[in-house]
Amino acid sequence: MGDRDVIIKTPKQIEGIRNACRLVARTLDMIGEYVRIGVSTQELDHICHTFIRSHGGTSACIDYLGNNRWWADGYPKCTCISRNDIICHGIPRADEYLEDGDILNIDLTVIVDGYFGDSSRMYQVGTVSHERKKLVEDTREAMMIGIAEIAPGKRMGDIGYAISHYAEERGYSVVREYTGHGVGVRFHESPYVYHRAKKGSGIKMVPGMIFTVEPMINLGTHHTKTMQDNWTVRTEDGRASAQWEHTVLVTKKGYEILTVSGA
Ligand code: MF3
Ligand code: CO
Ligand code: CO
Repeated sequence: MGDRDVIIKTPKQIEGIRNACRLVARTLDMIGEYVRIGVSTQELDHICHTFIRSHGGTSACIDYLGNNRWWADGYPKCTCISRNDIICHGIPRADEYLEDGDILNIDLTVIVDGYFGDSSRMYQVGTVSHERKKLVEDTREAMMIGIAEIAPGKRMGDIGYAISHYAEERGYSVVREYTGHGVGVRFHESPYVYHRAKKGSGIKMVPGMIFTVEPMINLGTHHTKTMQDNWTVRTEDGRASAQWEHTVLVTKKGYEILTVSGA
């Protein structure tokens, strides 16, 4: 994952990646109405998996080993579902039921015709506290403010500067250990996309680059802890965390968000 390994996508690759991204967005649209009190995260995972396969896709997550993960088992599910104090990589479970007041992230990476698309959104269950609602909305805004920095000639660090400035000004913290990433031909490509960075740092953006912006923003401390399963990541202080993710193409004029459902 060196900066020199960045893949500038061809028009043909962009078409394929756009198609995979569209399926991710449609799945995230579809699952919204199933997010209710009493449903298990495993049921949500199953519904997403069935939808993805019936639309010509497969899950990139199942059996995924990740970076330097030789000590861990491959990821067991289609989706990551991360509730409340879970920051990311929550594993759906048959005995984990949604409760009134929960906030959760559903993160999907699919493969269609060999191309990858990656996106996640937050969902709310029943009556959610003002503080959590605000966290969810502000985290989406932080992602969009980061995406708005994307244009040829701008640097990767401009994204993380904009996101962390916005979030920290509002009293939140930004998770450091997990980043956005190049995506499309493989699941996790170069470059890393830091969500907290110095303005003007990192490589220059070039048309044809495709990467994710996926900030994880916490109510309390930025510190994380990883559970015994070697995947589930929680906030150290047990306070809530939120995340949104889009896959974005750098265009000649600026950017195009690819993980949208389109016409
Ligand atoms: N979709 C996550 C990301 O945004 C990665 C999940 S890896 C998995 O990069 F193996 F946990 F699925
Ligand atoms: Co991602
Ligand atoms: Co993702």
